[in-house]
Amino acid sequence: LVDDYPEYDEHAVEFLKERFIVQTMDVNNGDDYSLLLQNLNKIEDDAGLCMNRLFYLSIPPQVFGLIVGNLGKFGLNKKCQHDKAESRLLIEKPFGYDLESAKKLINETSEYYDENQIFRIDHYLAKETVQNILNFRFNNAIFESLWDHFHISLIEIYATETIGIEGRANFYDKTGALRDIIQSHLLQLMAIVTMEEPLSFSSVHIHHSKLALLKYVKQINAADVDSSSLRGQYQTYKDEVKNPDTNTETFAAIKLIIDNPRWENVPIVLKTGKSLNEKKTAVTVLFKRNDRNEEMTQHNSLSFRIQPNEGIDIGIIVKKPGLDNELEAVDMDFSYSRFFAADTQRDAYERVLVDAIRGDHALFATSEEVIATWEI
Ligand code: BG6
Repeated sequence: LVDDYPEYDEHAVEFLKERFIVQTMDVNNGDDYSLLLQNLNKIEDDAGLCMNRLFYLSIPPQVFGLIVGNLGKFGLNKKCQHDKAESRLLIEKPFGYDLESAKKLINETSEYYDENQIFRIDHYLAKETVQNILNFRFNNAIFESLWDHFHISLIEIYATETIGIEGRANFYDKTGALRDIIQSHLLQLMAIVTMEEPLSFSSVHIHHSKLALLKYVKQINAADVDSSSLRGQYQTYKDEVKNPDTNTETFAAIKLIIDNPRWENVPIVLKTGKSLNEKKTAVTVLFKRNDRNEEMTQHNSLSFRIQPNEGIDIGIIVKKPGLDNELEAVDMDFSYSRFFAADTQRDAYERVLVDAIRGDHALFATSEEVIATWEI
């Protein structure tokens, strides 16, 4: 890790190292949880301070219920010894495999943890450019007034990757692209791009607007699946997972309709795939053409480049220089790297950890959002 940060602060790293304790646990063994509690209490006693406790679980879904249950049974879900500091759970997706299993996980967790103790990570929400979408939408009047079905004809949200499954055969073959990226990251992104303006940018109001939007998404009927979705698999996938019969998709695209007055019939296309030509995450908004000029084929467009080369492109139509009146669509390009110093950009995981330590829920998925996205 240190090699990735050539300018790291040696003293800070030494200071941290002195404070690390590694305790290996058998997740089935109650004594290990009791020992963990003792160790945490001792750290507080030695420092003479109450401290927030953050349990970060990046574990397979099969053992999730067991571990959360044991943390609860052995009192690790409680406030500190003097009732002053919080105990929090920071959890990685997948939050379930389908609607039923997600509800089950949520119920298991809520037996021991209140919703405000739980931080469900969706690292896409913590990407700088994703956070900027909200600010961009509601602080730029020139676009805010165009953000509806009267002016927009299509929204595309995509995340393509060049990497394959990177040795995660067991996990991925049971998951696939739709569950891995669309149900979580891309639906969250869609909610941010299309939701109504929240009363404020506080966590409660943002979640309120997101959930309201997700509830308006029309479910795709079985009869419409073929015309509203596509799935594919890259060529070497079967060999990689050593399963010649696998039908798991490594590419998925779906077309959704948000059935509310703002969006009516605007298609929202979500796409993702592994082992493709380009690593690119972006949101592209295509504006309607000017009806007065029937010959015009170009559209105005707006693209949020989420990664790489973070920025915003605005496609405008100009007259080509010359004696004829020919039109061409050109891009006006804003790049973060050109305007802001490189070290002002934070890695999404840095933001996730800092927010969980601060107790700010704005960038985490609520249980209601998780259920709403599985319903879609
Ligand atoms: C994870 C998925 O949530 O996101 C991975 O499980 C995927 O399959 C990764 O590769 C992509 O994240 P990023 O930040 O590189 O776009």
